[in-house]
Amino acid sequence: MTESSEAWPHMTGWEKAKTTALHTLPALLGGGVMARNRTRAVLNRFTDPAMVGHFDRVREKYHGLPVWGPRGTLYLLTEADAREMLQQSATVFSTASDEKLAMLGRMQPDAVILTRGPLRERRREINDSALSYHQPVPADSETLARIAESVMGDLLSSSMVTGSLSFAALKSALEKVGRLVCFGSPARDDDELSGLVDALRRDGNSFYLKPGAKRRVERNHADLMERIRSYASRAEDFSLAARLSHVPFEDERKPLGQIPHWLMAMSLMTPIAMRTLTLLDAYPRSLARTREELDAADRHHRRGSAGHLMAQPYFKAVILDAVRLYPVVPNISRVTTSRARLGGAEVEEDTPILIPANFLARGRARGEDADRFNPDAWITGEAADSCAYLPFSKGPGSCPGRDVGMFLLHYTIGALLRRADFRSRRQMFDPTGPLPKANLLWRSGWSVTERTPAPKPTTAVHSYQEG
Ligand code: HEM
Repeated sequence: MTESSEAWPHMTGWEKAKTTALHTLPALLGGGVMARNRTRAVLNRFTDPAMVGHFDRVREKYHGLPVWGPRGTLYLLTEADAREMLQQSATVFSTASDEKLAMLGRMQPDAVILTRGPLRERRREINDSALSYHQPVPADSETLARIAESVMGDLLSSSMVTGSLSFAALKSALEKVGRLVCFGSPARDDDELSGLVDALRRDGNSFYLKPGAKRRVERNHADLMERIRSYASRAEDFSLAARLSHVPFEDERKPLGQIPHWLMAMSLMTPIAMRTLTLLDAYPRSLARTREELDAADRHHRRGSAGHLMAQPYFKAVILDAVRLYPVVPNISRVTTSRARLGGAEVEEDTPILIPANFLARGRARGEDADRFNPDAWITGEAADSCAYLPFSKGPGSCPGRDVGMFLLHYTIGALLRRADFRSRRQMFDPTGPLPKANLLWRSGWSVTERTPAPKPTTAVHSYQEG
């Protein structure tokens, strides 16, 4: 007979209070949809290390079983439970959790991530094909690489003059890349479009409850969709929007309704690029190895081709490890839309489930390596196979923009590293010790100088293990 999930342990009142104080509240106060950077920086520094310690204790006390936490939410604290749920249907273990609907619903009501029922699969299909999910490189990859490099070239030219690169300048350049890739040149300079996405995200942070939010959000959403419709109707052939053009605008799959999520997701590139640059500055041997690979790929392959990208496994691993250490989507939330099975038990319909991905990646179960910058783990496949590391989630609800997102990160960061050296303005951690668990926001920017010639490679560069 199948056990009921009610038999699983329940956190005590004190454990629930700590979960709320160390995990739920910081996530909400720091901005659930768009980072409130100052608040998050202060909160994370104190709460993230305590949150990891708290979940370690809960997990050990309850022998790694799924555990009921605050507000009837089921917390999955082991890799095995995360894997079991993520591999199952994302319609049954729906991505459209109540809290996502409450925070994103007015900005992207038709997005696949918020779609319940059979329509979800059909919306997912059009996302997968437009975003070239699981392809070695996105469609028209060489054009996309040229776009990324050209925008970064302009950014570098101005940064070299001032000798500095700010977070805001990097954000604005990456947003431009996002608009160009989504639609092509008509949207290139439409900063207001990115501003509308940010404004809607900010209102999502407070569940659209702030005074005046209802009308503001309606206005902003209408404006956003009008721009999307206008750009999509003249999208350039290489663009992502053009890859949706076989689906009529009014079809129930709502092709244009997928794009607000794409624009929002593109903005994740900024914190990832920022963390990658900061880690490479802190680990010079890693930087040398990345550049060596980049230079060799440039000599032998056309930029943006599958050969060029595949000749750089270490660079890819560097970006992935930056997102493992500091996930930009720190929680994976789901809700059951029918009765379902998990961990040998029956879970009732309408059960909220949470995987604290930032805990899984850094908890005690991962050993000491969890707190080291260790790109090599992605090359051996060990990290990529693990469900403890979920930068793009896994299974049928995982990120269909993973490959195009990683591709753009590769060509934007690569364009910067080819030409310049970046020194973080503030040292945020000691690179010889374990990296801080706090999901720090390294926003202080970099000083920028023309790239210094690489030192003669030594065997140490090749046998490198950081830390
Ligand atoms: C580059 C950094 C990115 C990261 C780290 C990232 C991460 C994620 C994660 C963790 C999820 C699962 C969320 C959940 O289940 O709650 C997700 C979903 C999704 N992402 Fe991304 N993403 C990135 C970029 C992109 C881009 C560039 C696009 C599109 C252009 C995109 C489109 C999507 C879509 C459509 C979903 C919903 C999938 C579904 O519900 O089936 N993402 N992403």
